[in-house]
Amino acid sequence: MKKAIITGITGQDGSYLAEILLKKNYEVHGIKRRTSLINTKRIDHIYQEPDLTNRNFFLHYGELTDFGSILSIIQNVQPDEIYNLGAQSHVAVSFDEPEYTSDVNALGTLRILEAIKSLKLIDKVKFYQASSSELFGGSIEIPQNENTKFYPKSPYAISKLFAYWMTINYRESYGLFASNGILFNHESPRRGETFVTSKIIKGLLNFKKNNKILYLGNLSAKRDWGHAREYMNAAWNILQHDTPEDFCIGSEKQYSVKQFVELVAKKIGININWKGNGLEEIAIDSHNNTVVAVNERYLRPSEVDNLIADTSKAKKLLKWDYDFNIEDLIEEMIDYELQK
Ligand code: NAP
Ligand code: GDD
Repeated sequence: MKKAIITGITGQDGSYLAEILLKKNYEVHGIKRRTSLINTKRIDHIYQEPDLTNRNFFLHYGELTDFGSILSIIQNVQPDEIYNLGAQSHVAVSFDEPEYTSDVNALGTLRILEAIKSLKLIDKVKFYQASSSELFGGSIEIPQNENTKFYPKSPYAISKLFAYWMTINYRESYGLFASNGILFNHESPRRGETFVTSKIIKGLLNFKKNNKILYLGNLSAKRDWGHAREYMNAAWNILQHDTPEDFCIGSEKQYSVKQFVELVAKKIGININWKGNGLEEIAIDSHNNTVVAVNERYLRPSEVDNLIADTSKAKKLLKWDYDFNIEDLIEEMIDYELQK
């Protein structure tokens, strides 16, 4: 039985990946940090009591900022695969907490790599790094692929750039099987509520129920949004490839934040029209109620305008075949909220 460690097990992606690996008969070890309130909602359905015989799912307290904790977990588990999904993953927050974001995302990755090397596990372990399309940031090349020049535009993206290159450096310097999955935005019912897709869905449902205005930031940013579960299958595939390599994973389709609002509004039966420009732009419903307005608070000091994937390499080498459409994704997210 293969053993895998997942950092960020309590996050959106960690929870999907854990399900996928358990189905493939892995022994899964998740690293979770201590929180004052229990935050295992996304993995409660796969949790196993400590006294269960034949357990194959384990949680360990650990912190990406704490080398000792990372080292001892890797030493005790002796994993075959490590998926580094743990991160301060919110781009806007990274402008408020640039040092912490770098410590977790950049140095946290280095700590894992260094632990693998110190424990002489270079020839045993395969390492997956959760890299991001944010690396492309201000790139003018459309669509973006593995050869597109990086232009990170936030402390988050810069921390991920460090981690990206450190992953390649351990591959090239020491022969570690280490790969970057450069994933474009991916969403699901488990998406954190401060990311724009989840915020829009919850916000428009709230408008429908309580007539409350949804405040957003930049409405014209364009993203390539896919489904997190499908992308975690790709993460696993990346580590099963014959050689360690870096892959772009996305849907190859693009929508603006404004278009996303329109799709959600249509699905839940709010008829909207846009009025005004810039900070004054609003969406109104057929009774002239304001549904969406812009609030400066949600604008970023620097923005990424235009992300869309070219996944030719993954299609060719990993047989990446993504055919989940955005309307189905939105429907799944709305249904989940309504069931709650
Ligand atoms: P997420 O929902 O925000 O989950 C992040 C996970 O990292 C959570 O489990 C979080 O724990 C954990 N974490 C945060 N700080 C930590 C620390 N100091 N030590 C240990 N664990 C820590 O993010 P996600 O959407 O699942 O994304 C997974 C990874 O993919 C991240 O690295 C993200 O940057 C990257 N990525 C995401 C996307 C996307 O569109 N979702 C695209 C490209 C790349 P808590 O639950 O305690 O907060
Ligand atoms: N969060 C948020 N909240 N974003 C808003 C809002 C708002 O009120 N209004 C407009 N936006 C815009 C942002 O400015 C950005 O251009 C876009 O919506 C998407 O924002 P997020 O959903 O926060 O995601 P992100 O693209 O910044 O980052 C996500 O995707 C990256 C991959 O490209 C995160 O998951 C990152 O961890 C990931 O690396």
